[in-house]
Formats: sequence, structure tokens, C-alpha cells
Amino acid sequence: MKTSLTGIKPTHIPHIGNYLGAIRPALRLSETFRTAYFIADYHALTTVRDASLLRGWVYDVAATWLACGLDPEKTLFYRQSDVPEVFELAWVLSCLVATGQLERGVAYKDAMARGEVPNAGIFYYPVLMAADILLFDTNIVPIGADQKQHLELARDVASRVNHVYGEGTLVVPEPLIGEAPLVPGTDGQKMSKSRGNTIPLFEGGKKLRKLCLGIVTGSETLEEPKIAEGTAVFEIYKQIASAEKAAEMDAKLRAGGYGWGHAKDELYNAIEAEFAPMRDRFVALRADTDALDATLHRGAAQAREVAQATIRRVRAAVGTGAVG
Ligand code: ADP
Ligand code: TRP
Repeated sequence: MKTSLTGIKPTHIPHIGNYLGAIRPALRLSETFRTAYFIADYHALTTVRDASLLRGWVYDVAATWLACGLDPEKTLFYRQSDVPEVFELAWVLSCLVATGQLERGVAYKDAMARGEVPNAGIFYYPVLMAADILLFDTNIVPIGADQKQHLELARDVASRVNHVYGEGTLVVPEPLIGEAPLVPGTDGQKMSKSRGNTIPLFEGGKKLRKLCLGIVTGSETLEEPKIAEGTAVFEIYKQIASAEKAAEMDAKLRAGGYGWGHAKDELYNAIEAEFAPMRDRFVALRADTDALDATLHRGAAQAREVAQATIRRVRAAVGTGAVG
């Protein structure tokens, strides 16, 4: 069975875009792949400077995955920081990556273009991400299009290790880029926490309704016919409601006499129907951080067995550690 692995950076409470674009497709893969999904807390450290915020987001992300249906009996589910082998592999890999390739890294280049002085963690980030992936003999990595370059580096360095130290030392992974269109936020741009336009996954009631009513729309009158395709309200609705329901909304908007306010109300109801049961599970899971820690530790113990086998193979190949 092939392995699918991905990591989520705990830098905020997951939003609907994270769920539709990353969590839901990754969970669907667990039916056909051996899966390893982890919380990339050391990646978050490149930007988060508050320990209690970081720890809280780790629990938020952990409770989210579990509430959305991740089964820790079937999926290796762990915190990156509980698997220290990743740093040993990252070092080995870094000795085979040219600094020029890291200088071309999108996150590093963006930070430079913004006139920032990026920390070395941002520069080195793609190497750590390659280690996350290669440590588990990963075959496919479900990711967003923004992570494509990082995957290229992981593939390059794995091939290089195999070329230098022998074929079969590391598995060369493939990216699996989601085909679903990006989920728009309340301002019509890509939903992203950095844009402040998100609908948090487990928001409900009045707050959720207010967020839905605040989504940008055209200024057509109630009577006027409207084009659904490409509008934020419809594009979010389409990914949550059934195909028939989406076709119905499309027809109603096209016919006229159905306003954006009506569409937003339907969106609100669809979000409530889809996520209310998960929200209840999230609240219960999030309240018991000891249980979350226990689940993550159990996952890490299993993950480390796989990680240590890879490290033994790598040490033998590169000439570190004792023989045997
Ligand atoms: P953000 O952009 O809010 O900081 P992250 O970078 O933490 O989100 O994204 C985590 C995962 O969620 C990534 O795999 C990314 O592809 C997916 N994702 C984020 N925003 C969206 C969106 N608007 N639509 C679809 N997928 C998204
Ligand atoms: N860099 C990814 C992001 O920002 C998170 C991540 C870290 C990751 N390690 C990974 C994703 C390994 C896939 C595989 O979203």
C-alpha cells in the first residue's frame, strides 16, 4: 500500500478553505492509502513567537482533524516536534541542497521582496519539509498549489541522495495537487487567514450568520437576474451543498426575484447543516487537551518506529553512526 503524508502548520484555527482544500481531500485518501498526517509545529515557529498561542493552535488543529473524521487507529497522527528524527534527516539533506536552490524558494523570495530580513528558519524551511516527507517513505503528498515548489525540492534532494549513496536509499515522492478551485473568502479573494477574510470552520450561530451576510456580492436589485458562477457566495455554497442544491441556487439566481440575501441565508444554512455535528465533536475534543496529547503521543511512538528505520538506512548509506 502506498503512503500519503501531509502536514498542517498550526498558525491559526482552521477555516472552511483549509477544510475543503486540504482536510476533506486528505481524509478521503485514507480509504486507499496508508496515511500519515501531522501537525507541523516547528514550521510554525518561523513566524509564531508566542508559546501559549502556538500550543493552543496545535490543539485546535489536532481537534479539527479528529472532529472531521481522522481515525488515529488508521492514520499515523502526530506532532512534528514529537518525532526528533526529522532533524537528523534534515541535516543530511541540507548537505546535498545547494544554497542557490533555497535562495529561489518562494517564501524566502517573497519575504525579501517585502523588504523583510527573513530568519534562517524561513530559508531552511523547504529542507525541513523535505525531511518530514522523506522520513516516512512517502509516495504522495496532498498539498495546495502554493507548496508545489517545496515538493520539487523534496523530489530533487531524494533523487540526489539516491544518486550519491545508492538507489533505494529514499523514496521519491509525488505531489497531489487538489483540483477543486480555491475557496474564496468573504471579500471574494482566496480565503486566507493572512487576508482576514475567513469563515472559521467551527464558527456557528449569530457570528456565522453575520460572516455570511458580509460576503461581497454584486449590487443587482432583487428582481434582476444574476450570474452565480464566480461569485464568492455561490463558489463556497457549491463546495458544501449537493450538486442538485447548487444547480437549484444557480437557476434561482438566473431567474431573478431571488436576492443575494436569500443566497447568503441558504449558504448559512448549508454551513450549519454540514458543520454543526463536527463543531460539537470539536468542542468536546478541544476541551480535553490531556486526551489530545495522549492521542498525539501514541501516534508519535508509532511514527518514530518508521522514522528510526529510515534513519538507520540513511546512516548506513552516508557513513555516520556505528556499523550494524
Ligand atoms: P492560510 O492561507 O489561511 O494561511 P494555510 O497556508 O495554513 O492557510 O493552508 C493550509 C492548507 O489549506 C493548504 O494545503 C492549502 O492548500 C489549503 N487552503 C488554504 N486556503 C485555501 C483556500 N482558500 N481554498 C482551498 N484550499 C485552501
Ligand atoms: N509547508 C506546508 C504549508 O505551509 C506545511 C508542511 C510542513 C507540509 N511539512 C509538510 C506539507 C510536509 C506537506 C508535507 O502548508
